[in-house]
Amino acid sequence: MKISVSYLTSNYEKKQTIKLIEKTNADYIHVDLMDGGFVEHKNFKIEEVLALLSDHQKPLDIHLMVFDPLIYIKELAKLNPSYITFHIEATKDIVGTIKEIRKYGIKVGLSLRPNTDIHEIMPYLALVDLILIMSVNPGAGGQSFISTSSDRLEELRKIRAENNLSFLIAMDGGINNETIKLVKDLDIAVSGSFICKSTNYQAQIDKLRE
Ligand code: DX5
Ligand code: ZN
Repeated sequence: MKISVSYLTSNYEKKQTIKLIEKTNADYIHVDLMDGGFVEHKNFKIEEVLALLSDHQKPLDIHLMVFDPLIYIKELAKLNPSYITFHIEATKDIVGTIKEIRKYGIKVGLSLRPNTDIHEIMPYLALVDLILIMSVNPGAGGQSFISTSSDRLEELRKIRAENNLSFLIAMDGGINNETIKLVKDLDIAVSGSFICKSTNYQAQIDKLRE
């Protein structure tokens, strides 16, 4: 299982948090971007994100919690991210957004809120590289893991096997050394406050990898 670290909720300021993540063996930096529309909180201006991550070393996994994700892709492509993930609930133009991300040679992720029926993503499964299952309601770090998320993971794994598909499955929200035991079959676990609210990031990551 790979580990992607979200710097959204941390004891340190953002730049310092990113530096600390860079020193660990985490696989990705998870970049949460919120527009104050799709979710209540707003945390990004595009220029600030580009500046903050301009000298990143680890691969980036961008999670867009925004309406109209299409309009941000061109600018975000400058960061050369590995993945850009957007929400199925955030746009009517899902196929167009997928194509726009692909245009820049970036892998495509599709995410869904905890209450969205998993079958809604069926038409897109063959078109994407990653499905990001939200295990909390998107919008903030530090929330509790919704325990039924493990059933969603198993359901999606079954759908993937039955249809001979190859997308990866990631999960985001409330993942710590206890809840990770419920989702051992994940390809990528996103974890934020469990790592970034500690003073030893690598030790926390080691606990997730146990
Ligand atoms: C939630 C974000 C998550 C969050 C994870 O809206 O998408 O990536 O930062 O943080 P924790 O692990 O604290 O739930
Ligand atoms: Zn996220």
